[in-house]
Amino acid sequence: MRATHVRPTGTERTFGVDEIIVTKTDPRGVITYANEVFLRISALTEEQAIGQPHNIIRHPEMPRAVFKLLWDTIGQRQEIFAYVLNLATDGAHYWVLAHVTPSYDAAGRHVGYHSNRRRPDPSTVAAVKQVYDRIRMAESRHTATPAAIEAGWQALQDELGGLTYDEFVWAVTNG
Ligand SMILES: Cc1cc2nc3c(=O)[nH]c(=O)nc-3n(C[C@H](O)[C@H](O)[C@H](O)COP(=O)(O)O)c2cc1C
Repeated sequence: MRATHVRPTGTERTFGVDEIIVTKTDPRGVITYANEVFLRISALTEEQAIGQPHNIIRHPEMPRAVFKLLWDTIGQRQEIFAYVLNLATDGAHYWVLAHVTPSYDAAGRHVGYHSNRRRPDPSTVAAVKQVYDRIRMAESRHTATPAAIEAGWQALQDELGGLTYDEFVWAVTNG
């Protein structure tokens, strides 16, 4: 079952401030490990999660531009902190502040990625949601995928107003 095919119910799910949602993926973003918290919050069994692409929990209201930035950044073997809205397979949604890092084996070969996610502050989520909604609106004006990506990317730059996304994340997080 894929959350991408699930209709969002509008129910927000939260998790403990002391809990961390963890997944690991291969270099293409296929899930190789998921902790209990991820499975519980996403309403997935381990069998349903392992071997699936990470967009299994993609929420339709997430702007493409944020995922483009995520993959551009980790593809350069850099870490990223990002606010992400996810969709559980039962239709509930949950916000996270994700930290995604590249993983290496003992020989230094790149083997995939690791993500730790914490529960964000509700007031921060409200601010991020407004920004993401405007980017998604810009994307939704285009039917062709490349044009939508281009428009979303431009909208993201406009929203950041000269800040890097990283600077934006810390400004809203500490704000
Ligand atoms: C380690 C790692 C963790 C990820 N975590 C999420 C996540 O929690 N939610 C999500 O929607 N995408 C996550 N992604 C990004 C997905 O791979 C994918 O790019 C995104 O869901 C957009 O899907 P799409 O490219 O099919 O539009 C993660 C990727 C990696 C490498």
